[in-house]
Amino acid sequence: MKHFFSLFAMGMFLVLTGCLKQNTEEQWMNDPKILDLIQQMTLEEKMGQMHQISGFGGQVPDNLKQDIIDGKVGSILNEVDVKAINEIQRIALEESRLGIPVIIGRDVIHGFKTVFPIPLGQAATWNPELVKKGAEVAAKEAWSSGVNWTFAPMIDISRDARWGRIAESCGEDPFLTSVMGVAMVEGFQGDDLSADGSILACAKHFAGYGAAEGGRDYNTTLIPENELRNVYLKSFHAAQQAGVGTFMSGFNDLNGVPATGNRFLLRKVLRDEWNFDGFVVSDWASVTEMISHGFAADPKEAAYKAISAGVDMEMTSDSYKNHVKELIEEGKINERLLDEAVYRILKIKFDLGLFNDPYVQEEDQNRFALPEYLEAAKQAAVQSMVLLKNEQQILPFTSSINKVAVIGPMANQKYEQLGTWIFDGDSDLTITPLEALKSELGESKVLFSEGLKYTRSKDKTGFSEALATAKKADVVVVCVGEEAILSGEAHCRASLDLPGAQNELIEEVSKAGKPIVLVVMAGRPLAIGGVSKHAEAVLYAFHPGTMGGPALADLLLGVANPSAKLPVTFPKAAGQIPIYYNHKNTGRPVDPNAWTCIDDIPLNSYQTSLGNTSHYLDLGFAPLYPFGFGLSYTTFEYKNLKIETPKVKLGGDIIASVTLENTGNFVGEEVVQLYIRDLVGSVTRPVKELKGFERVQLKPGESKKVSFKINTSDLAFFNPEMEEVTEPGEFHLWIGGSSDTNLRTEFVVE
Ligand code: GLC
Repeated sequence: MKHFFSLFAMGMFLVLTGCLKQNTEEQWMNDPKILDLIQQMTLEEKMGQMHQISGFGGQVPDNLKQDIIDGKVGSILNEVDVKAINEIQRIALEESRLGIPVIIGRDVIHGFKTVFPIPLGQAATWNPELVKKGAEVAAKEAWSSGVNWTFAPMIDISRDARWGRIAESCGEDPFLTSVMGVAMVEGFQGDDLSADGSILACAKHFAGYGAAEGGRDYNTTLIPENELRNVYLKSFHAAQQAGVGTFMSGFNDLNGVPATGNRFLLRKVLRDEWNFDGFVVSDWASVTEMISHGFAADPKEAAYKAISAGVDMEMTSDSYKNHVKELIEEGKINERLLDEAVYRILKIKFDLGLFNDPYVQEEDQNRFALPEYLEAAKQAAVQSMVLLKNEQQILPFTSSINKVAVIGPMANQKYEQLGTWIFDGDSDLTITPLEALKSELGESKVLFSEGLKYTRSKDKTGFSEALATAKKADVVVVCVGEEAILSGEAHCRASLDLPGAQNELIEEVSKAGKPIVLVVMAGRPLAIGGVSKHAEAVLYAFHPGTMGGPALADLLLGVANPSAKLPVTFPKAAGQIPIYYNHKNTGRPVDPNAWTCIDDIPLNSYQTSLGNTSHYLDLGFAPLYPFGFGLSYTTFEYKNLKIETPKVKLGGDIIASVTLENTGNFVGEEVVQLYIRDLVGSVTRPVKELKGFERVQLKPGESKKVSFKINTSDLAFFNPEMEEVTEPGEFHLWIGGSSDTNLRTEFVVE
């Protein structure tokens, strides 16, 4: 008997610890309705939830119907036909065995029908409230089309203007990108994912995708873990803390392991360290692309590596669909991995309210381009256009301006000014600069000549007409830049010059001897240093979206005053890349003002006569324009920088303030920026790091004390041991209107 009891006790112990272990490992899988559903699911149905297919352009073909009925489709992307989506959801809810709805995904990156400035332009607003509003509008329009998931925000840190997807990013800085990414997540998802007009967001592309070697899309990324954690992961962690529902694994090979098969990223960081509870979707076919990477021998191994690493849903490729069953039968993966992935997917579908009501109204109710949406897009465009130059204060135009010549291949291009990623953008809604100026000034006051038919054109036959038009005007607005196709995914450029014969066009038009306002619409920083000398004023508009024309008109006519600041450093030429403000000091920093330009080097110069410092003989060290730079029609003066906490203990707050005065003649908004430098660290630290900013509006003559409070924890970085620490020591602190501000004080962390 005794023996029996001991066996029984042992048995119970094993059962209990087994359950406990099971529960401990999956204690987050605690929703009974989801667990009950999973219990009912066949292996094929579980695999179905993990499979995302591309839509059929408004059709619901029989094979799709049957797959939905069989529970083989968890998600569909790129379907935006309301009737087709409602039919898909009806079949899923009413004809499939378990009635699990489908989640409909779409790239709603900077608007749906109403197109906002490209994300790089939105980041130039340094206005998270405005960016959140843009995401809210995009979500409402997309939701009303049956879309319940956007593959945005794209929060890859982008330091290379050659990379086409810099257009889709929020620029080079982890702090600004984090603030903008969180604003977009909040705008898309709202306070309640199940509410009308809320859609699921997706932090992408996890991680390090923007560090593609050579700025060439999909290329290798080599990022030491310390740099990965201190620069590239911060914006993703911020998005996770803001409650983003999904992550997307990137295409890139990260240090030899593709992001889509990278356990370090998808399990160690995302799950174990950050406790992310949403689901991970692969980027388009990035699972099977691991074969091309040479990381998987075949689709079956690709499926094994992706699912083991933590990809819950496979986008468009079908390695999960075709091989997961075998992998389980062969004992290579445990079905529990599927249960975890399916649980996360089902939880999101419940949170979205899709089980209750996945349907949207079909009649063409007025759901797009509402006046409030267009106004929001206009304000975003106004605040996204960076004033880089304004000599002789030719802007804003005064009443003395009687005739305005509008010239250039981007002056009247409804589609091109929308920029990349506008799958659903309605270019008919676009108001171009030409249209807006004619509307504001009257047809008779606005002259027009394209000069070039499109930005890449080298056909100069229109130059003479353009010059003649310029001669008839009091001021010339030259609109140049890049067609939309020249930036975005896979659209990288080795040169940052204006495409085609645009430089020549600007030079030709300058012969008219009239003041020139150069307006650049592009998806990246361009090397405009040469041509901008022909212009008294330069406005960098990125791709401003639907309301780019009215926004530009408001700025040119002084209805609005520019307040935008650059979210990315502007190189003098591609040869300076990588170039970014938060760089390391190196052992031989150059004095930006004491280098000898290549043209000035004396003949027969002795080898060391130039000084051995880190710069280019031909272009020096400084960029064309620094991160955080942007002018206003008024002028602002910063003074009385004070540190109220010259010494602070670990855990304490650092408080600094400055007096900002509007010393000009216009009401203006200034983005006051706070930077710090950790002078000595267990790893080298950047020469500057953005740690705060605030938009301040002042009337002419008005002053305001602007204060910042940061905690020593905001100074933390990952040390060589990968511990996130703030190390005692000396710090510099700057407050100013650009990253190149010299207004500096210091403090000590004890
Ligand atoms: C694309 C992009 C990704 C996008 C996805 C779906 O290749 O890399 O950003 O969300 O595929 O269109």
